[in-house]
Amino acid sequence: MKVALIGNGNVGKAFARLLESQRSRYPFRISGIHTLNHGTAYKPPDKPLEFGPRAESIEEFIAKCRAEVVIEITSLDPTAGEPAISHIRAAFAQGKHVITANKGPIAHAYRALKAEATARQLMFRYESTVMDGAPVFNMVANTLPGVKITGFCGALNSTTKVVIEELKKGHTIEDGVRLAQQMGIAETDASYDIDGWDSAAKTAALANVLMDANVTPQDVDRRGIGQLTPEKVADMVSKGKTPVLVSRARTTAEGIRLRVRSEVLDQTDLLASVHGTSNVLMIDTDLMGTIGTVSITPGVEQTAYGLFSDLVDIAKNL
Ligand SMILES: NC(=O)c1ccc[n+]([C@@H]2O[C@H](COP(=O)([O-])OP(=O)(O)OC[C@H]3O[C@@H](n4cnc5c(N)ncnc54)[C@H](OP(=O)(O)O)[C@@H]3O)[C@@H](O)[C@H]2O)c1
Repeated sequence: MKVALIGNGNVGKAFARLLESQRSRYPFRISGIHTLNHGTAYKPPDKPLEFGPRAESIEEFIAKCRAEVVIEITSLDPTAGEPAISHIRAAFAQGKHVITANKGPIAHAYRALKAEATARQLMFRYESTVMDGAPVFNMVANTLPGVKITGFCGALNSTTKVVIEELKKGHTIEDGVRLAQQMGIAETDASYDIDGWDSAAKTAALANVLMDANVTPQDVDRRGIGQLTPEKVADMVSKGKTPVLVSRARTTAEGIRLRVRSEVLDQTDLLASVHGTSNVLMIDTDLMGTIGTVSITPGVEQTAYGLFSDLVDIAKNL
Protein backbone atom coordinates (compact mmCIF):
# COMPACT_ATOMS: atom_id res chain seq x y z
CA MET A 1 0.00 0.00 0.00
CA LYS A 2 1.35 3.46 -0.93
CA VAL A 3 1.34 6.40 1.47
CA ALA A 4 2.05 10.10 0.89
CA LEU A 5 3.48 12.35 3.60
CA ILE A 6 2.64 16.04 3.90
CA GLY A 7 5.39 17.21 6.29
CA ASN A 8 8.74 15.54 6.90
CA GLY A 9 10.04 16.79 10.25
CA ASN A 10 10.76 14.81 13.42
CA VAL A 11 7.55 12.78 13.12
CA GLY A 12 7.84 12.13 9.37
CA LYS A 13 11.41 10.91 9.67
CA ALA A 14 10.60 8.66 12.65
CA PHE A 15 7.61 7.26 10.72
CA ALA A 16 9.81 6.49 7.66
CA ARG A 17 12.29 4.64 9.94
CA LEU A 18 9.42 2.67 11.49
CA LEU A 19 8.03 1.66 8.07
CA GLU A 20 11.51 0.54 7.01
CA SER A 21 11.91 -1.58 10.16
CA GLN A 22 8.52 -3.27 9.60
CA ARG A 23 8.85 -3.73 5.82
CA SER A 24 9.02 -7.56 6.00
CA ARG A 25 5.69 -7.71 7.85
CA TYR A 26 3.89 -4.70 6.33
CA PRO A 27 4.64 -3.76 2.70
CA PHE A 28 3.76 -0.06 3.10
CA ARG A 29 5.74 2.30 0.83
CA ILE A 30 6.15 6.08 0.86
CA SER A 31 5.37 7.26 -2.69
CA GLY A 32 5.75 11.00 -2.09
CA ILE A 33 6.77 13.62 0.49
CA HIS A 34 5.69 17.27 0.37
CA THR A 35 7.39 19.89 2.60
CA LEU A 36 7.39 23.65 3.10
CA ASN A 37 11.07 24.54 2.56
CA HIS A 38 12.67 21.30 1.35
CA GLY A 39 10.74 20.71 -1.87
CA THR A 40 8.67 17.70 -2.90
CA ALA A 41 9.80 14.11 -3.44
CA TYR A 42 8.26 11.41 -5.62
CA LYS A 43 9.31 7.79 -5.91
CA PRO A 44 10.13 6.68 -9.44
CA PRO A 45 9.64 2.91 -10.03
CA ASP A 46 12.58 0.85 -8.63
CA LYS A 47 14.40 3.96 -7.44
CA PRO A 48 14.56 5.74 -4.07
CA LEU A 49 12.57 8.91 -3.37
CA GLU A 50 13.98 11.91 -5.24
CA PHE A 51 13.52 15.46 -3.91
CA GLY A 52 12.95 18.20 -6.46
CA PRO A 53 11.21 21.59 -6.57
CA ARG A 54 8.12 22.03 -4.41
CA ALA A 55 4.86 20.93 -6.10
CA GLU A 56 2.81 23.92 -7.28
CA SER A 57 -0.17 22.87 -5.18
CA ILE A 58 -1.24 20.25 -2.68
CA GLU A 59 -3.69 18.92 -5.32
CA GLU A 60 -0.81 18.37 -7.77
CA PHE A 61 1.26 16.56 -5.11
CA ILE A 62 -1.58 14.24 -4.09
CA ALA A 63 -2.47 13.43 -7.69
CA LYS A 64 1.13 12.75 -8.73
CA CYS A 65 2.16 10.43 -5.92
CA ARG A 66 -0.80 8.03 -6.41
CA ALA A 67 -0.97 6.96 -2.77
CA GLU A 68 -4.02 5.31 -1.21
CA VAL A 69 -3.41 7.03 2.14
CA VAL A 70 -2.31 10.62 2.84
CA ILE A 71 -0.58 11.36 6.15
CA GLU A 72 -0.84 14.98 7.34
CA ILE A 73 2.07 15.82 9.68
CA THR A 74 2.75 19.51 9.12
CA SER A 75 3.33 22.01 11.94
CA LEU A 76 0.55 22.79 14.40
CA ASP A 77 -1.45 25.99 13.88
CA PRO A 78 -3.54 26.13 17.08
CA THR A 79 -5.45 29.26 16.08
CA ALA A 80 -7.08 28.00 12.85
CA GLY A 81 -5.76 24.49 12.08
CA GLU A 82 -4.59 25.58 8.62
CA PRO A 83 -3.22 24.71 6.14
CA ALA A 84 -3.67 21.19 7.52
CA ILE A 85 -7.49 21.30 7.23
CA SER A 86 -7.19 22.26 3.54
CA HIS A 87 -4.62 19.48 2.99
CA ILE A 88 -7.02 16.92 4.44
CA ARG A 89 -9.94 18.22 2.35
CA ALA A 90 -7.76 18.05 -0.79
CA ALA A 91 -6.94 14.41 0.02
CA PHE A 92 -10.61 13.51 0.58
CA ALA A 93 -11.52 15.25 -2.71
CA GLN A 94 -9.18 12.85 -4.52
CA GLY A 95 -10.61 9.81 -2.71
CA LYS A 96 -7.68 9.28 -0.29
CA HIS A 97 -7.93 7.93 3.25
CA VAL A 98 -6.29 10.31 5.73
CA ILE A 99 -4.26 9.91 8.92
CA THR A 100 -3.03 12.89 10.91
CA ALA A 101 -0.86 13.52 13.98
CA ASN A 102 -1.68 17.22 13.66
CA LYS A 103 -4.22 18.15 16.33
CA GLY A 104 -5.14 21.45 14.62
CA PRO A 105 -7.72 19.89 12.27
CA ILE A 106 -9.30 17.79 15.05
CA ALA A 107 -9.41 20.81 17.37
CA HIS A 108 -10.97 23.10 14.72
CA ALA A 109 -12.93 21.06 12.20
CA TYR A 110 -13.44 17.52 13.49
CA ARG A 111 -17.17 17.36 12.92
CA ALA A 112 -17.00 18.68 9.34
CA LEU A 113 -13.99 16.54 8.35
CA LYS A 114 -15.54 13.39 9.82
CA ALA A 115 -18.78 14.09 7.91
CA GLU A 116 -16.83 14.63 4.69
CA ALA A 117 -14.93 11.36 5.12
CA THR A 118 -18.14 9.46 5.88
CA ALA A 119 -19.96 10.95 2.87
CA ARG A 120 -17.09 9.83 0.59
CA GLN A 121 -16.78 6.42 2.33
CA LEU A 122 -13.20 7.21 3.33
CA MET A 123 -11.35 6.46 6.56
CA PHE A 124 -10.06 9.29 8.75
CA ARG A 125 -7.76 8.45 11.68
CA TYR A 126 -5.98 10.69 14.25
CA GLU A 127 -4.82 8.48 17.17
CA SER A 128 -1.43 10.21 17.60
CA THR A 129 -2.89 13.73 17.96
CA VAL A 130 -3.20 13.13 21.73
CA MET A 131 -0.74 11.01 23.77
CA ASP A 132 1.27 9.94 20.71
CA GLY A 133 0.66 6.24 20.07
CA ALA A 134 -1.05 5.39 23.36
CA PRO A 135 -4.64 4.30 22.78
CA VAL A 136 -7.07 7.13 23.50
CA PHE A 137 -9.55 7.57 20.64
CA ASN A 138 -9.25 3.93 19.54
CA MET A 139 -9.58 2.72 23.13
CA VAL A 140 -12.89 4.54 23.53
CA ALA A 141 -14.16 3.65 20.04
CA ASN A 142 -13.17 -0.01 20.20
CA THR A 143 -13.47 -1.02 23.84
CA LEU A 144 -16.09 1.23 25.48
CA PRO A 145 -19.27 0.73 23.45
CA GLY A 146 -22.34 2.44 24.87
CA VAL A 147 -20.56 4.74 27.35
CA LYS A 148 -21.03 8.49 27.52
CA ILE A 149 -17.90 10.51 28.33
CA THR A 150 -18.75 13.19 30.88
CA GLY A 151 -15.30 14.71 31.42
CA PHE A 152 -11.57 14.10 31.51
CA CYS A 153 -8.33 15.38 33.00
CA GLY A 154 -4.79 14.83 31.85
CA ALA A 155 -1.16 15.87 31.80
CA LEU A 156 -0.81 15.78 28.02
CA ASN A 157 2.12 18.02 27.10
CA SER A 158 5.57 16.39 27.29
CA THR A 159 7.57 19.55 26.54
CA THR A 160 6.31 21.37 29.64
CA LYS A 161 7.10 18.28 31.74
CA VAL A 162 10.70 18.39 30.49
CA VAL A 163 10.83 22.16 31.13
CA ILE A 164 9.48 21.80 34.69
CA GLU A 165 12.12 19.11 35.43
CA GLU A 166 14.79 21.58 34.23
CA LEU A 167 13.33 24.35 36.44
CA LYS A 168 13.63 21.92 39.39
CA LYS A 169 17.37 21.66 38.61
CA GLY A 170 17.66 25.49 38.74
CA HIS A 171 17.75 25.90 34.94
CA THR A 172 15.61 28.27 32.84
CA ILE A 173 12.52 27.71 30.70
CA GLU A 174 14.72 28.30 27.62
CA ASP A 175 17.11 25.50 28.76
CA GLY A 176 14.13 23.15 29.06
CA VAL A 177 12.79 24.11 25.64
CA ARG A 178 16.21 23.45 24.06
CA LEU A 179 16.28 20.00 25.65
CA ALA A 180 12.76 19.19 24.40
CA GLN A 181 13.75 20.38 20.91
CA GLN A 182 16.79 18.07 20.97
CA MET A 183 14.43 15.21 21.89
CA GLY A 184 12.24 16.08 18.86
CA ILE A 185 9.11 16.50 21.00
CA ALA A 186 8.62 20.30 20.99
CA GLU A 187 6.18 21.96 18.61
CA THR A 188 7.76 23.70 15.57
CA ASP A 189 6.98 26.91 17.49
CA ALA A 190 7.73 25.86 21.09
CA SER A 191 5.85 28.86 22.53
CA TYR A 192 2.69 26.86 21.71
CA ASP A 193 3.84 24.32 24.33
CA ILE A 194 4.82 26.89 26.97
CA ASP A 195 1.73 29.10 26.52
CA GLY A 196 -0.65 26.13 26.72
CA TRP A 197 -1.85 26.25 23.09
CA ASP A 198 -0.78 22.68 22.39
CA SER A 199 -2.67 21.52 25.48
CA ALA A 200 -5.69 23.64 24.52
CA ALA A 201 -5.70 22.06 21.05
CA LYS A 202 -5.51 18.58 22.62
CA THR A 203 -8.29 19.48 25.06
CA ALA A 204 -10.52 20.71 22.23
CA ALA A 205 -9.69 17.62 20.13
CA LEU A 206 -10.57 15.26 22.98
CA ALA A 207 -13.79 17.16 23.70
CA ASN A 208 -14.78 17.18 20.01
CA VAL A 209 -14.21 13.46 19.46
CA LEU A 210 -15.18 12.02 22.85
CA MET A 211 -17.90 14.50 23.93
CA ASP A 212 -19.22 15.77 20.57
CA ALA A 213 -18.41 19.30 21.81
CA ASN A 214 -17.83 21.15 18.50
CA VAL A 215 -15.39 23.58 20.15
CA THR A 216 -12.05 25.13 19.16
CA PRO A 217 -8.87 25.79 21.25
CA GLN A 218 -10.13 29.37 21.70
CA ASP A 219 -13.02 27.93 23.76
CA VAL A 220 -10.52 26.53 26.29
CA ASP A 221 -9.80 28.73 29.31
CA ARG A 222 -6.02 28.63 28.86
CA ARG A 223 -2.96 29.64 30.86
CA GLY A 224 0.53 28.17 30.29
CA ILE A 225 3.66 27.73 32.42
CA GLY A 226 5.45 30.93 31.30
CA GLN A 227 5.20 32.51 34.77
CA LEU A 228 7.16 29.70 36.49
CA THR A 229 10.71 30.37 37.73
CA PRO A 230 13.30 28.04 39.36
CA GLU A 231 12.66 29.84 42.68
CA LYS A 232 8.86 29.36 42.57
CA VAL A 233 9.27 25.69 41.63
CA ALA A 234 11.87 25.10 44.40
CA ASP A 235 9.40 26.56 46.93
CA MET A 236 6.64 24.18 45.71
CA VAL A 237 9.02 21.19 45.84
CA SER A 238 10.01 22.05 49.44
CA LYS A 239 6.30 21.66 50.33
CA GLY A 240 5.93 18.29 48.57
CA LYS A 241 4.21 19.94 45.58
CA THR A 242 4.94 20.28 41.86
CA PRO A 243 3.49 22.29 38.98
CA VAL A 244 1.83 20.30 36.18
CA LEU A 245 0.15 21.66 33.04
CA VAL A 246 -3.26 20.03 33.30
CA SER A 247 -6.11 19.80 30.76
CA ARG A 248 -9.61 19.43 32.19
CA ALA A 249 -13.12 19.01 30.75
CA ARG A 250 -16.34 18.68 32.68
CA THR A 251 -20.02 18.68 31.86
CA THR A 252 -22.01 21.39 33.64
CA ALA A 253 -25.59 22.63 33.45
CA GLU A 254 -24.34 25.42 31.16
CA GLY A 255 -22.44 23.09 28.83
CA ILE A 256 -18.93 21.62 28.58
CA ARG A 257 -16.25 23.57 30.49
CA LEU A 258 -12.67 23.28 29.21
CA ARG A 259 -9.55 24.48 31.00
CA VAL A 260 -5.74 24.33 30.72
CA ARG A 261 -3.74 25.49 33.76
CA SER A 262 -0.40 25.10 35.42
CA GLU A 263 -1.81 23.45 38.57
CA VAL A 264 0.13 23.01 41.82
CA LEU A 265 -0.36 19.34 42.75
CA ASP A 266 0.89 17.01 45.48
CA GLN A 267 3.89 15.12 44.12
CA THR A 268 1.92 11.92 44.79
CA ASP A 269 -1.12 13.05 42.75
CA LEU A 270 -1.78 10.63 39.88
CA LEU A 271 -1.38 13.48 37.36
CA ALA A 272 2.03 14.37 38.86
CA SER A 273 3.44 10.94 39.58
CA VAL A 274 4.51 9.94 36.06
CA HIS A 275 7.91 11.43 35.27
CA GLY A 276 10.00 12.47 32.27
CA THR A 277 7.93 12.94 29.13
CA SER A 278 5.22 10.59 30.47
CA ASN A 279 1.57 11.50 29.89
CA VAL A 280 -1.55 10.45 31.73
CA LEU A 281 -5.23 10.86 30.85
CA MET A 282 -8.24 9.96 32.98
CA ILE A 283 -11.66 9.77 31.37
CA ASP A 284 -14.92 10.08 33.35
CA THR A 285 -17.79 7.99 32.03
CA ASP A 286 -21.41 7.31 32.96
CA LEU A 287 -21.19 3.51 32.97
CA MET A 288 -17.51 2.67 33.53
CA GLY A 289 -16.57 5.19 36.22
CA THR A 290 -13.18 6.81 35.63
CA ILE A 291 -10.59 4.96 33.60
CA GLY A 292 -7.16 6.02 32.46
CA THR A 293 -4.37 5.56 30.01
CA VAL A 294 -0.68 6.18 30.75
CA SER A 295 2.26 6.49 28.41
CA ILE A 296 5.67 6.08 30.04
CA THR A 297 8.47 8.25 28.57
CA PRO A 298 7.01 8.55 25.07
CA GLY A 299 9.17 10.05 22.33
CA VAL A 300 8.78 10.74 18.65
CA GLU A 301 8.94 6.96 17.94
CA GLN A 302 5.67 6.55 19.80
CA THR A 303 4.06 9.31 17.68
CA ALA A 304 5.27 7.41 14.63
CA TYR A 305 3.72 4.24 16.08
CA GLY A 306 0.38 6.06 16.47
CA LEU A 307 0.43 6.81 12.72
CA PHE A 308 1.50 3.24 12.00
CA SER A 309 -1.32 1.77 14.12
CA ASP A 310 -3.83 3.88 12.17
CA LEU A 311 -2.27 2.73 8.89
CA VAL A 312 -2.45 -0.95 9.86
CA ASP A 313 -6.07 -0.38 10.87
CA ILE A 314 -6.92 1.24 7.50
CA ALA A 315 -5.16 -1.58 5.61
CA LYS A 316 -7.23 -4.14 7.56
CA ASN A 317 -10.49 -2.34 6.74
CA LEU A 318 -9.90 -1.68 3.05
N1 LIG B 1 7.06 15.69 17.68
C1 LIG B 1 6.19 15.04 18.43
O1 LIG B 1 6.57 14.38 19.41
C2 LIG B 1 4.71 15.08 18.10
C3 LIG B 1 3.82 14.30 18.87
C4 LIG B 1 2.46 14.28 18.53
C5 LIG B 1 2.00 15.06 17.47
N2 LIG B 1 2.90 15.84 16.77
C6 LIG B 1 2.37 16.65 15.65
O2 LIG B 1 2.95 16.19 14.42
C7 LIG B 1 3.13 17.29 13.51
C8 LIG B 1 4.58 17.31 13.04
O3 LIG B 1 5.45 17.45 14.14
P1 LIG B 1 7.04 17.45 13.94
O4 LIG B 1 7.62 17.32 15.31
O5 LIG B 1 7.42 16.49 12.88
O6 LIG B 1 7.25 18.96 13.41
P2 LIG B 1 8.56 19.54 12.66
O7 LIG B 1 9.75 18.68 12.98
O8 LIG B 1 8.64 20.98 12.99
O9 LIG B 1 8.23 19.35 11.10
C9 LIG B 1 7.16 19.99 10.48
C10 LIG B 1 7.15 19.57 9.03
O10 LIG B 1 6.01 20.13 8.38
C11 LIG B 1 6.42 20.73 7.16
N3 LIG B 1 5.48 21.79 6.82
C12 LIG B 1 5.13 22.87 7.57
N4 LIG B 1 4.20 23.61 6.92
C13 LIG B 1 3.97 22.97 5.74
C14 LIG B 1 3.15 23.25 4.61
N5 LIG B 1 2.36 24.32 4.58
N6 LIG B 1 3.19 22.38 3.56
C15 LIG B 1 3.98 21.28 3.56
N7 LIG B 1 4.78 20.97 4.61
C16 LIG B 1 4.78 21.82 5.67
C17 LIG B 1 7.85 21.23 7.40
O11 LIG B 1 8.51 21.41 6.16
P3 LIG B 1 10.07 21.87 6.13
O12 LIG B 1 10.85 20.68 6.65
O13 LIG B 1 10.37 22.11 4.71
O14 LIG B 1 10.16 23.06 7.01
C18 LIG B 1 8.38 20.05 8.23
O15 LIG B 1 8.83 19.02 7.38
C19 LIG B 1 2.70 18.56 14.28
O16 LIG B 1 1.39 18.90 13.92
C20 LIG B 1 2.77 18.13 15.75
O17 LIG B 1 1.84 18.83 16.55
C21 LIG B 1 4.22 15.86 17.05
